[in-house]
Amino acid sequence: MMKHTSELFELFNSSSKKSIKWKKYFPIYEKLFKSYKNKNITFVEIGILDGGSLEIWKKYFGKDSRIIGIDNNPKCKKFQNENYEIFIGSQSDVNFWEKFFNEVGKVDIVLDDGGHTNEQQIISLIQSVENINDGGLHIVEDAHSSYQKHYGNPYKYSFINFSKKTIDDINSTFPNIKNFNYKLNKSIYSVEFFESIVAFKIDRNLCYENILLENRGYKSNNIDATIDVLFMNFRNRFKFLYKYKIVQKIERFFIKFFYRYKSKKLKKYFK
Ligand SMILES: C[S@@+](CC[C@H](N)C(=O)[O-])C[C@H]1O[C@@H](n2cnc3c(N)ncnc32)[C@H](O)[C@@H]1O
Repeated sequence: MMKHTSELFELFNSSSKKSIKWKKYFPIYEKLFKSYKNKNITFVEIGILDGGSLEIWKKYFGKDSRIIGIDNNPKCKKFQNENYEIFIGSQSDVNFWEKFFNEVGKVDIVLDDGGHTNEQQIISLIQSVENINDGGLHIVEDAHSSYQKHYGNPYKYSFINFSKKTIDDINSTFPNIKNFNYKLNKSIYSVEFFESIVAFKIDRNLCYENILLENRGYKSNNIDATIDVLFMNFRNRFKFLYKYKIVQKIERFFIKFFYRYKSKKLKKYFK
């Protein structure tokens, strides 16, 4: 089994207060957080419990970091001191988030280690995304709750299914791909999945609709799919037919039929 020697793991073991974290999270945190160390960042953790993780984050991110803890347990207010700001409220309460960001302003990282229900994780993500600076992260840990019966899962409206939907959201910034009514693709440009952790990466500058670039006046005729070549030739020859919607519809039908027929043998990889 892999031995942990990371700085965060050391801080976890030497923390003066109790903290509970799954072992595999430490190398993932290091990977996600190392570029924010010793910077003037605002880090928010949902879920304070005994205050141990707040101590770890302050030591890890350094003296210039602003560390904020959120919990719905009023007793957690006692952890407020010169190193941490504590906010009491429920992460599934939209009004709480509105007041929170009004007071705190924009943040850089939100780590959700709170209550782990679909509602708590999804509402926290949706409410935070618009309030995270470009270059920032929203991280949800314990995402295994989306597979656990005692959270009412697996379910179509689970947190993990919402996360998978953000993949479709991101891909719909490519031209002419179906868009959803509800999307976060104006802020989230990338999602990274780990066991039990999902990391949403925020950068509005990278969320624009994609554009095909051609350098030096280069135009490619290189269409590698046989059916496309067939239809391209047909289209070139019978251009006049394409003014009829029915012809376009028939073409789409055949293309769909062809690719689906070819893809049938892939079924075994989806089981
Ligand atoms: C897993 S513990 C947090 C552990 C802590 N981050 C650590 O590393 O030691 C979960 C915490 O989330 C809090 N919590 C549960 N439901 C919540 C909610 N709806 N809003 C905010 N916090 C909640 C609990 O009171 C508890 O302190």
